[in-house]
Amino acid sequence: MFGLIDKVAIVWGGGSGMGEATALRLARAGCDVAVVDLDIALAEAVAAKISALGRRAIALAANVTDEQQVDRAVAETESGLGPIGVMVTVVGMAGFGPVLDITSEQWDREQSINLKSVFLTAKSVARTMVRNGGGAITAICSVSGLTSAPRHASYGAAKAGVAHLVRSMGAELAPRIRVNAVAPGTIETQRVKATEERIAAIERRVPMARMGSVDEIAKAVLFLSSDLASFVTGQTLAVDGGWTSQFLMDAHDSSSTDKDIDWEKVSNT
Ligand SMILES: NC(=O)c1ccc[n+]([C@@H]2O[C@H](COP(=O)([O-])OP(=O)(O)OC[C@H]3O[C@@H](n4cnc5c(N)ncnc54)[C@H](O)[C@@H]3O)[C@@H](O)[C@H]2O)c1
Repeated sequence: MFGLIDKVAIVWGGGSGMGEATALRLARAGCDVAVVDLDIALAEAVAAKISALGRRAIALAANVTDEQQVDRAVAETESGLGPIGVMVTVVGMAGFGPVLDITSEQWDREQSINLKSVFLTAKSVARTMVRNGGGAITAICSVSGLTSAPRHASYGAAKAGVAHLVRSMGAELAPRIRVNAVAPGTIETQRVKATEERIAAIERRVPMARMGSVDEIAKAVLFLSSDLASFVTGQTLAVDGGWTSQFLMDAHDSSSTDKDIDWEKVSNT
């Protein structure tokens, strides 16, 4: 169904969280996987899980903001596993703060880890995909790149750049290579914990009234990487429990967000 059997995938930031969940989903769908991470021990642990699933896997250490290290990991993946057909870039880091306090160094660091990382990895892999018959590239964006909010200027600008980059690359590289992004809402990870305060805020603003899981992001990436998305390119898919759709509804009709539905009555009629 997915058309991924025996395809080679490379997952940047595959050592934990959404990256690990994505690497495992791709392996279960039939991919051999190169797990790339700054932390080689994390990458090795995920590669071992993939081998246990009966797929080939290699673990590689690379910093996604360094072009030479990215190119070297791509070359090692191709020599170890074969031509790359699927690429996913998960690495990113949120830094929130008042726009007037952001230093030039912080700005550069955030653009580098969130946006330059996608450019370098997608460019390096796309060059090999062009030679090898095409493929699918997916980056992890954020709802912060689709909307604006106070204290999100730097991270939001970088993630908005990711949404734009996949539009541009999707248009430029079609029909050989599809390029898309997934924009997560609030997802429970090592860094983003389900604190009481966070849960309360989410219940107020997210229609589905909960955090998402790393596997819910992995499933969306799997869809975009697969033949099921064969006519989808240049898109950023929000996987956010309805969070960003609600901003639009708020602007047009605030009553439409009221939770005044009698679910029991509806399900019994
Ligand atoms: N958690 C959320 O609620 C949320 C919401 C929206 C978007 N996102 C985005 O999701 C993505 C994953 O977030 P996460 O919190 O799971 O990430 P994470 O902190 O778990 O990092 C993913 C992996 O990337 C590795 N890594 C970090 N810097 C690297 C580098 N320079 N080179 C190579 N590998 C590196 C880490 O070791 C880690 O294993 C990010 O792009 C983030 O911006 C997260």
